Amino acid sequence: NWQLSDFAEAAITQIRDRVGDRRVICGLSGGVDSSVVAALLYKAIGTQLTCILIDNGLLRKNEQSLVIDEFSNHFKTDLHVVHAEDRFLASLAGVAEPQEKRRRIGHDFIECFKKEAESIDNAHFLAQGTLYPDVIESGADPDGPAATIKLHHNVGGLPEELGFELIEPLRDLFKDEVRRLGLELGLPEKLVWRHPFPGPGLAVRCLGEVTRDKLEVLRAADAIVIEEIENAGLYRETSQTFAVLLPVQSVGVMGDARTYDNAIAVRSVNTNDFMTADWSRLPYDLLARISTRIINEVQGVNRVCYDISSKPPATIEWE
Ligand code: XMP
Repeated sequence: NWQLSDFAEAAITQIRDRVGDRRVICGLSGGVDSSVVAALLYKAIGTQLTCILIDNGLLRKNEQSLVIDEFSNHFKTDLHVVHAEDRFLASLAGVAEPQEKRRRIGHDFIECFKKEAESIDNAHFLAQGTLYPDVIESGADPDGPAATIKLHHNVGGLPEELGFELIEPLRDLFKDEVRRLGLELGLPEKLVWRHPFPGPGLAVRCLGEVTRDKLEVLRAADAIVIEEIENAGLYRETSQTFAVLLPVQSVGVMGDARTYDNAIAVRSVNTNDFMTADWSRLPYDLLARISTRIINEVQGVNRVCYDISSKPPATIEWE
């Protein structure tokens, strides 16, 4: 009979014993795993924890304020927000190839994190939200097909050369246990049930070259998709739902004027393991509301499509 409250208590004692009076740093992404790690560490060592959020300019709408609210106002951790939007966008300028986008974002992320971590006195440990499935996966063939389809970059994947001792308190847990632990630790439902969000963020949903203007369009459309699916009570019924900005313009008509604007694809999938996935059978009236709102409210979009491809052969993300 697996009790998460017992797990939390044991983990807290273990962390305290191991850390002593040294400092732990923890990268926050707005995602479930890093949030649960931070909440657990905060319970264990309080102000000896420093959290770092890198704002790479590729976050979803309100993501930064959500993290600040949770880890600076609710849990009073020592939170450093690194504003690195300009740097990331400069590295991405002119780059359209998906793997190259991931590579540059991964590289910048490590550099930014390293620089911030070096400014923190007495930092000895790095906490990471590694889960049991990650442990198994990393033991798998690194050149196997799954490893090479997409070059994954995660907050969970900082290199050892940073020189910190790792703390990975979720190593024995599956995702559903991490969620339950998060609730047990007092994290809000909204955060605990968030859909996964890729490390390279909106960059892989802004197809082709990433620019500030395109990101703004995508971010606004994505927020509408999420708001409408939440209002319909279907957020938790789907595994991942988001908007993608396509690199095409198409002709439309607004009033009596001809438009030549962007197209947004809406993607929503249901899956247990993210290795295979089916597209969500969203109700037509929900799709209609999403489409009308995006076209009316997001300047520069005149067409919305719904992605009805399953994985395989498509992937969940478009890049
Ligand atoms: P695909 O697109 O390969 O995605 O079907 C499977 C799951 O992985 C996420 N994903 C990523 N996560 N860095 C990440 O941290 C990445 O580069 C990346 N690419 C895809 C995707 O959102 C889905 O949950």
